[in-house]
Amino acid sequence: MRDMERLKNKSVLITGASAGIGAATARLMAGAGARVVLNARRADRLEALANETGASVVAGDITDPAVRARLVAAAGESVDFLINNAGYGEPGPVETVSEEDARRQFEVNFFAAAEMMRAVLPGMRARRAGHIVNISSVAGRFGYPLFGWYCATKHALEGLSDALRVEVAPWNVKVVLIEPGPVRTEFFDVTIKKAAPHMEDADSPYAPFFQNVEAIEKDFMKQATTPENVAKVVLKACSKKNPSGRYAVTGMARTAIAASRLLPRAWLDAGIRRQFKIPGKDEVR
Ligand SMILES: NC(=O)c1ccc[n+]([C@@H]2O[C@H](COP(=O)([O-])OP(=O)(O)OC[C@H]3O[C@@H](n4cnc5c(N)ncnc54)[C@H](OP(=O)(O)O)[C@@H]3O)[C@@H](O)[C@H]2O)c1
Repeated sequence: MRDMERLKNKSVLITGASAGIGAATARLMAGAGARVVLNARRADRLEALANETGASVVAGDITDPAVRARLVAAAGESVDFLINNAGYGEPGPVETVSEEDARRQFEVNFFAAAEMMRAVLPGMRARRAGHIVNISSVAGRFGYPLFGWYCATKHALEGLSDALRVEVAPWNVKVVLIEPGPVRTEFFDVTIKKAAPHMEDADSPYAPFFQNVEAIEKDFMKQATTPENVAKVVLKACSKKNPSGRYAVTGMARTAIAASRLLPRAWLDAGIRRQFKIPGKDEVR
């Protein structure tokens, strides 16, 4: 309870707050008495959430430097908590995802988050206080087939966050990674839409990889949690004076991360091949 008191009247910036984990986090933060500023591209969604929670809104694409500047300015004198959450999954084989799509994925999931961190750090250092919470993924620990570019963005976010945590510790700034497994949000709808051109390309050497997409998604969804459960972990990290550096969310994420410490790489690869129903040598041309 005393921990929660720490959020009262504190300023919180949340990117990607029009849906899923970001919207759930905004509700919890506002409920804990924080002054919340919401960002995402869909202004109508943000306005509805603002009416419900009393939050402020800065709508726009987080890759736009002007939007980021407005977002930081909207927090007033100080940003106490930055929640870098905006993101999506660009699916497809590493070989065939276009360079443009791969780079765009990095712009949203990695560079925009990095620039938000750099924008709030001077203020946090000056006040010798602040939490930066980066929504990574279990995909920041593993390389999943058909999600190589997405995994790369989350690995990059993890590497930068780990370095930054140590760099800014002398100023009492906390850097936290949240690593959820599957979460029931719009993330999978967005991903399936983006996967369509790959799935429809019957001439692709990777066509057999897509034959079991529905079954794979179903297996994932069985292990999925709610965005509210992830938001609770974000709130917990923000309410702690000394949060952990990483929080895995869902049993699947905790088990996978523990297994990655114990098992040889070849065993992990074999497990992932099974999980993603990767075709055998005689099934590809
Ligand atoms: N769902 C999962 O299974 C899962 C698992 C692990 C990690 N994650 C991570 O959790 C975070 C949130 O995802 P979610 O599951 O809550 O998905 P979601 O429901 O699709 O929400 C994604 C949010 O990001 C925003 N967004 C996307 N591109 C943006 C851009 N260019 N500028 C500003 N906002 C942008 C979206 O809003 P607009 O479209 O309105 O811009 C939306 O509010 C992501 O970083 C994702 O990688 C998700």
